[in-house]
Amino acid sequence: MDTERRAFIKKTCGLCASIVGISVLASALEGCASLIYVKPELVKGVLKVPLGSFVENSKLVIVRNAVLDYDIALVKSGDNTFRSFELKCTHQDNALVATSTGFFCNLHGSSFRIDGTVNVAPATANLKEYKTMVNGELVEIIL
Ligand code: FES
Repeated sequence: MDTERRAFIKKTCGLCASIVGISVLASALEGCASLIYVKPELVKGVLKVPLGSFVENSKLVIVRNAVLDYDIALVKSGDNTFRSFELKCTHQDNALVATSTGFFCNLHGSSFRIDGTVNVAPATANLKEYKTMVNGELVEIIL
């Protein structure tokens, strides 16, 4: 685990602790600890994530690139089927915290399911979805 990843987990788990009750804290922290982060290069508007990033039956990979204002959640939705969502709250543009079961906003409490749909208001719009396709051994996210 690289230093940057550790710092991010520590920071986001700290945010988890500040906004959720003790009863759900354990599951939130468990979700944070199990997330996989990748930093693919952006080439001509396409992020290319190796299929091998989804290890041990994982269904979620967080995609990070310096040119992005927000991380992207890359979700394995079926055999060789993937969807990707911008991790920006649709209420007032706050960065979302990802767990293995969904995404939540620490500003006003909205949450989103793993398929990008709103679970808890005040957000009313689903997450922005990017066109995503498999090309050989890569999942391509078209920005
Ligand atoms: S900005 Fe996310 S709930 Fe308000």
